[in-house]
Amino acid sequence: MKIRKITCIGAGYVGGPTMSVIAQKNLNVKVTVVDLNQARIDAWNDADLSKLPVYEPGLDSVVAEARGRNLFFSTDVEKAIDEADMIFISVNTPTKTYGKGKGQAADLKFIELCARQIAAVATSDKIVVEKSTLPVRTAEALKSILDNTGNGVNFHILSNPEFLAEGTAVEDLHAPDRVLIGGENQEAIQALVDVYAAWVPTERILTTNLWSSELSKLVANAFLAQRVSSINSISELCEITGANVDEVSRAIGHDSRIGSKFLKASVGFGGSCFQKDILNLVYIARSYNLAAVADYWEQVIILNDHQKTRFAENIIKTLYNTVNGKNIAFLGWAFKKDTNDTRESAAIYVADHLLDEEANVIVYDPKVPAEQIYKDLDYLGTRTPEENRRLVKVVNDPYEALADAHAAAILTEWDEFKDYDWSRIKESMKKPSFVFDGRKLLNSAQLQDLGFVYYAIGE
Ligand code: UDX
Ligand code: ADP
Repeated sequence: MKIRKITCIGAGYVGGPTMSVIAQKNLNVKVTVVDLNQARIDAWNDADLSKLPVYEPGLDSVVAEARGRNLFFSTDVEKAIDEADMIFISVNTPTKTYGKGKGQAADLKFIELCARQIAAVATSDKIVVEKSTLPVRTAEALKSILDNTGNGVNFHILSNPEFLAEGTAVEDLHAPDRVLIGGENQEAIQALVDVYAAWVPTERILTTNLWSSELSKLVANAFLAQRVSSINSISELCEITGANVDEVSRAIGHDSRIGSKFLKASVGFGGSCFQKDILNLVYIARSYNLAAVADYWEQVIILNDHQKTRFAENIIKTLYNTVNGKNIAFLGWAFKKDTNDTRESAAIYVADHLLDEEANVIVYDPKVPAEQIYKDLDYLGTRTPEENRRLVKVVNDPYEALADAHAAAILTEWDEFKDYDWSRIKESMKKPSFVFDGRKLLNSAQLQDLGFVYYAIGE
């Protein structure tokens, strides 16, 4: 099987960058990315590359190289399905907000819609690749829908989970630690191996059965998130005992059995994957009556929620037990640096907590627009959109955010925050001037010398 045309359904954080790199590296394959969202497709096609809907360092040059040559973005889903040899499904699978499994299970309605559409439209054999994060055994459901509603053509299902991290997506795609392909049909597996082998060394392309591949994605994210919760649990202990969590991370990270990555204490992990994948794992374990397994992994989420709450409560307690009417400047809203993605960002929950206490929150983030910030808060449903707009102001200049602030809170580890003129900021803030560093980003000695009252996670 030689792949000539690839279609990807879903032009989001996963589909967009992944397909851009596949097209960049496979000149003889036509790659079409489709989405129902016209505005998103228009943005992918915008001549001004700073308008791409996904901000990722290096992505603009990959798109510039491939777009119009063998990379296309379109809303014509049916045409793209029909002409493809291989179809990636990269639609979103949010946590269910209703019914059975509410708050835990993945909502598969977008996946099912895709499967039904592929079945209805396809007039030739297709390889269908699951790219979205899915619960184990979704491939089985996909196959059942495709085989029972299709036009008698053959479908081979593969699982090819995404391991790219936002902010380093292009790097991760160019030089992945591994590419994982799960499936049953050897020819279909080989066809996808060949696509990646255009640039990934073959020893890094792992093949497994479908279920191992699906489960490995959840387990990889659960292990990574568990490390963050583990070090965050220690950060609380450090604050009380006088140990410094960065020193503890460094000391344990030198043990090659532990390793140094993912040991940075923070205000809590966010992102579209960690919480969703662990909740999925917990849901699956519970549904097989594995209570001890479910409880074990659930604790990673409980600790993460605790970390966010604890950060907000420390701000309130330190500001003399009231933030009512006080200005709290937020530096950062994205869930990590170098991305404009805000899904599950700790900033949302910390803000919500402070807004409950009637604080005024002034937000500056280098890449997140005001509409997104209001959308995130409105989505919580804690208060009306009018109230959110009354209490939260979004500004384009960090110095404006900090002027007259009672406290600054660092929610995202954007590098530029380190280089601000903190002496000028000290002058412009209310006194005493508090800084709550949720990322342990700033230089504590420097800030204390300038007269700030400085609190950092784990210090
Ligand atoms: C993650 C996985 O890393 C990736 O392999 C998978 O495909 C998708 O989920 P992502 O969510 O994009 O990627 O970012 P990641 O770098 O893993 O960070 C997740 C969250 O953990 C962020 O909020 C980050 O700030 C936080 N984090 C990470 C820490 O607080 N401390 C750390 O040491 C590492
Ligand atoms: P991810 O991080 O998984 O890429 P995103 O939400 O960024 O998630 O992207 C998923 C994209 O999938 C969205 O742009 C959404 O409009 C698109 N999408 C969802 N369902 C369908 C569908 N049936 N057909 C085409 N596009 C879809």
